[in-house]
Amino acid sequence: MKFLRFSDVCRSGFARGKRVFIRADLNVPLSPPTHRCPPEGGSAALGRPGDGWDDAGRITEDTRVRASIPAIRMALDAGAAVMVTSHLGRPTEGEFKPEDSLSPVARRLSDLLGIEVRLVSGWVDGGFAVGPGEVVLLENCRLNVGEKKNKPELAAKLGKLCDIFVHDAFGTAHRAEGTTYGIAETAPIACAGPLLAAEMDAISKALANPKRPLVAIVAGSKVSTKLTILQALAKNVDGLIVGGGIANTFMLAAGLKIGKSLAEPDLLGEATAVIAAMKARGAEVPIPEDVVCAKAFAADAPATVKAATEVADDDLILDIGPKTAARLAEKLKAAGTIVWNGPVGVFEFAAFENGTQVIAQAIAESSAFSIAGGGDTLAAIAKYGIEKDVGYISTGGGAFLEVLEGKTLPAFEILAKRAEP
Ligand code: 3PG
Ligand code: MG
Repeated sequence: MKFLRFSDVCRSGFARGKRVFIRADLNVPLSPPTHRCPPEGGSAALGRPGDGWDDAGRITEDTRVRASIPAIRMALDAGAAVMVTSHLGRPTEGEFKPEDSLSPVARRLSDLLGIEVRLVSGWVDGGFAVGPGEVVLLENCRLNVGEKKNKPELAAKLGKLCDIFVHDAFGTAHRAEGTTYGIAETAPIACAGPLLAAEMDAISKALANPKRPLVAIVAGSKVSTKLTILQALAKNVDGLIVGGGIANTFMLAAGLKIGKSLAEPDLLGEATAVIAAMKARGAEVPIPEDVVCAKAFAADAPATVKAATEVADDDLILDIGPKTAARLAEKLKAAGTIVWNGPVGVFEFAAFENGTQVIAQAIAESSAFSIAGGGDTLAAIAKYGIEKDVGYISTGGGAFLEVLEGKTLPAFEILAKRAEP
């Protein structure tokens, strides 16, 4: 897909002195104001709420803020006047509440950039100052009336705020809202920021032109939420490793008993069709040969390794067994490309984490190009410390999943349209 890249715009010198509007995804988790945090370097034992405690919420995970820095720096280095905005949560349009403010994000951006980042509210009609070499953060864009539904009146105003619109919000690339779509239609120039471009490049490398064998891991509690992904991948991948509740439904489809494990018997037909589609192409969905069971869903529930054919009526399958994990690890080590979404067991509980840990380790050791995305997957990557050994870690949750489904995200559709001569 062809689209204009902000890096090329900057390289040409065109951004000098221009007003650049960057849509980032700075939708980061914040500690709720009710759980007040002690000041930096302090401890909960110090002071009482009110004396130096942070009332505004704190960023508990700042990957997305850090990921937004290259685009902002690129704009600054190119001599632009920089405006950045993002949504935070899902506020009611037109109703400002302190918890919806991007002010903690403005502070974090200031720290990371080493320059003051002013927070501007009520910005839709312009009238705020920003000069070359400056960065302003425009308050939560979902407070603007018309943002969610991408109303043309809002889009027209957004387009007038800038000379160059930069879409760098991959995490929101599956939404067609005012600041992710409307402004891309109305701004004089619309291009992809470095994060958006890198995500797209990594995903096309993995799915459009993969080095084979291409192996995907799709795990999670329900087949229903990932059925379209499984169906899309079944047409493309050489191996489709299923895990979690999804694997249980596939075990049922393979004629195995799963006790009282989480599954969706209604979707047996769909699971069978995925297995058949894969088989017809000479590809496979490996069904677990052993599993780790417990009688209750609890961290301290005694864990028993069983052959997949020996699951009892009162068993809950909470992980893949060691033989299955070793077999899958071999496949991953021999892969050319790996796409990973979802832990294969209840990796939050030590007794049921082995499968996910072995898979994570195999991905780390594999020479395959790997791409991973989704909240639980990122948590597993962090737990096993393999960040540096994964080819690309996506900042997208829903957006990453929609790409796996084979959808063209609105962000890319509109940027490609704007790039047409
Ligand atoms: C996310 O966190 O998934 C993105 O920021 C998109 O947010 P949304 O689901 O509220 O559109
Ligand atoms: Mg979401």
